[in-house]
Amino acid sequence: MSGEFLSFPPGFLWGVASSAYQIEGAVQDGGRAPSIWDTFCHEPGNIHNGETGDVAADHYHRWQEDVRIMADLGVKVYRFSVAWPRILPDGSGKVNRAGLDFYDRLVDALLAAGIEPCLTLYHWDLPQVLQDRGGWPARDTARYFAEYAHVMGVRLGDRVNYWATHNEPWVAAFAGYFAGEHAPGIQDPVASFLSAHHLLLSHGLAAEALRAACRNRPRVGIVLNLSPVHPATDSQADVEAAARFDAVLNRLFLDPLFKHQYPADLVDLAGPVFTPPQPGDMECIATPLDWLGVNYYSRHVARYDPDFPIIQAAQVQPAGNEYSQMWEIYPPGIYELLTRVWNDYRPPYIIVSENGIPVADAPDLDGRIRDTRRITYLHDHIAQVHRAMAGGVPVRGYFVWSLTDNFEWAHGYGMRFGLVYVDYATQARTVKESGWWYKGVLEANGVERET
Ligand code: FCB
Repeated sequence: MSGEFLSFPPGFLWGVASSAYQIEGAVQDGGRAPSIWDTFCHEPGNIHNGETGDVAADHYHRWQEDVRIMADLGVKVYRFSVAWPRILPDGSGKVNRAGLDFYDRLVDALLAAGIEPCLTLYHWDLPQVLQDRGGWPARDTARYFAEYAHVMGVRLGDRVNYWATHNEPWVAAFAGYFAGEHAPGIQDPVASFLSAHHLLLSHGLAAEALRAACRNRPRVGIVLNLSPVHPATDSQADVEAAARFDAVLNRLFLDPLFKHQYPADLVDLAGPVFTPPQPGDMECIATPLDWLGVNYYSRHVARYDPDFPIIQAAQVQPAGNEYSQMWEIYPPGIYELLTRVWNDYRPPYIIVSENGIPVADAPDLDGRIRDTRRITYLHDHIAQVHRAMAGGVPVRGYFVWSLTDNFEWAHGYGMRFGLVYVDYATQARTVKESGWWYKGVLEANGVERET
């Protein structure tokens, strides 16, 4: 039905998201020590075109302009991450005042502009020195993370209300330690499952640390990358493969957080690759959350693949569907996912903490960036979030990935996700058509059902 308007509840948290390594640059400024991403980017062959986050979108120097742009767009929430190696360059112990001051100023500027900060503690930039001591497969890393959380809580807990411990621990554990496509570039199944466990454990420890350290009661959440997993065909082999894929992608993190246990089918599958948790770990991991962050970009389609280790399932890209430069475009997946997470896990409430699309944007002769594909993508996903909410799923916010174009990990600068275009030669920012469109969504507090 055209003409119908999909209104969101008053106070709905419309936001934009970013992460430290992808935007800040200034990797040697202000006492910052290297992270695993600095090391990884500087090893030849790891990143498209040999690119690095050394300069990125130069946000470390241009943060005031970025806050101004958000204010112009009427953004209500800014989700950003803190670079751990700016705060604790040695991984633990001595706190670097200049690092804390940077985020302190950012938070004050956001609040002055009427923008609510949502702070992610870990968006994959582990201090290199901690990787040298074993990284996430080492249990001590969880303890160091809690120490870092405490430092941040003491400094910003009077002004930051929304805290996310981790961003996408699945990616940190499996892209980093299983596939080796992300830092630290390790390929070791045992290390990847240990990393997953220590990331979860560190989440529980950090939640406790934040609740002890913050002056105001913090709203503590975790951000997961989740996707519906559909079988490539109706064959029993593919249906079972999709269920195994779902176990490792979705339930491996959701079950410990909400059900105090690892999925039994996955533990069986992993066999000796899975290291059993220590007594007390599962209670710590399942510390009640205030909110769950869900990042959604696409669904997964899986088929039986006897050669794929552990889950014997591989991802396929069905022909005939629509794809962005990275993934299938599948808006109903966000409806299906939100509904499933609510039905199976009952988190207090959900924030869609990332959603977005890479588009090969370029300015037209008049300087405007007409990214209609992004507008359609965002519109269609927002409409599906509305549909889930109409069905009773408590979604309180929706954040676009990302505010500006930035360093897209192994893809380098080729993938542009921003509402704001960055000319990397000059670092000039230009709001894309999608940015102005999003401003309209925020003002109207909703979208038309049809584009
Ligand atoms: C997510 C990451 C984010 C960004 C988007 C495109 O997996 O959290 O940093 O790279 O994908």
